[in-house]
Amino acid sequence: MPPGEGLGEASIAVNGDADIVAARSRAKEMASAVGFSRTNQTVIATAVSEIARNIVVYAGSGEIVLRAQRCDGRWGLVAVASDEGPGIADVEQALTEGYSTAGSLGVGLSGARRLMDSMEIDSEVGRGTTVTMCKWADRRG
Ligand SMILES: Nc1ncnc2c1ncn2[C@@H]1O[C@H](COP(=O)(O)OP(=O)(O)OP(=O)(O)O)[C@@H](O)[C@H]1O
Ligand SMILES: [Mg+2]
Repeated sequence: MPPGEGLGEASIAVNGDADIVAARSRAKEMASAVGFSRTNQTVIATAVSEIARNIVVYAGSGEIVLRAQRCDGRWGLVAVASDEGPGIADVEQALTEGYSTAGSLGVGLSGARRLMDSMEIDSEVGRGTTVTMCKWADRRG
């Protein structure tokens, strides 16, 4: 059976700091259920919490959906974070380490990309942002 088959999906409404913690622990639980190593559970939880934090800081609210599914032809855990916030004018710039419009460290998005196996950002100024990222399962299904 493919790793995580039958787990369904988890959807977390992200409206504030408490929801970042919830997204982080839900991601960890789901990663554990899929069979990720403890290290990779933490890796996934960290990436998900950075993306959740960006929703709170820049958009105010949004949603994160976690799913065990195929990505790029391999089983894995996929996280889709979406918001209807201000959007990102220059995605490549936003992914540059050290770039921040909030006077922060500017390592959240680039760090999350490094931690995961793939990341796609779909964003439009005035409409919102969707970040889709995936980590491949430790074993093949
Ligand atoms: N969901 C989002 N909506 C709008 N802008 C965003 C969103 N996520 C990221 N950004 C933009 O991308 C920039 C880089 O994000 P990143 O998470 O890397 O750094 P940061 O949030 O500024 O600092 P930190 O290191 O504390 O996360 C942000 O400063 C912001 O301008
Ligand atoms: Mg950030």
